[in-house]
Amino acid sequence: MELLEGIYSRRSVREFTDEAVKRGEIREILKAGSWAPSGLNNQPWRFLVVDDVDMLQKLARYTTDGEIIASSRVCIAVCADPTAMYDEIKDYMALGACVENMLLAAHGIGLGAVWLGQILNQAEAVKDLLGIPKEMKLAAVVALGRPARRGQASERRELSELILDGYGE
Ligand SMILES: Cc1cc2nc3c(=O)[nH]c(=O)nc-3n(C[C@H](O)[C@H](O)[C@H](O)COP(=O)(O)O)c2cc1C
Repeated sequence: MELLEGIYSRRSVREFTDEAVKRGEIREILKAGSWAPSGLNNQPWRFLVVDDVDMLQKLARYTTDGEIIASSRVCIAVCADPTAMYDEIKDYMALGACVENMLLAAHGIGLGAVWLGQILNQAEAVKDLLGIPKEMKLAAVVALGRPARRGQASERRELSELILDGYGE
């Protein structure tokens, strides 16, 4: 898939089929995440992959988006490792780039994914459930699977609303 086409056609996918996701596909997605840029190339992201069906059902209880997690085949908990961090804002921005790389990679190989943030309201309980070390900072959960449907609508503001100096108008 061409890069810009991938960026513009990616959508958050919240319903998945029962079809399994291959371990190799998940590793490709993790690798794409790991190739995100980071300040000082410090790569502060750490991943925990949840592919056990029972554990996914348990995880689903920790968010109002439980149905998404229950429908997904795999969830990736994305954490920041404080021992690798050097600047909170820059490091969390790097984690955002990492998550976006994973969403785009999933889309590029025909999977669907959604970035879940609401679950962070229960971050400590989720870490306990998944056995994530206390010192890690849970930053996002990405739910993945094969899309039950494609081509959902999404909207963005006009560039003219976003460009403060009217560049290019
Ligand atoms: C930081 C962040 C947190 C998000 N949290 C959630 C969430 O908890 N639940 C959810 O269904 N979608 C969540 N999303 C996905 C957004 O709702 C989605 O990206 C946005 O509505 C635009 O839709 P699109 O991705 O299909 O273009 C989150 C996205 C980001 C970047």
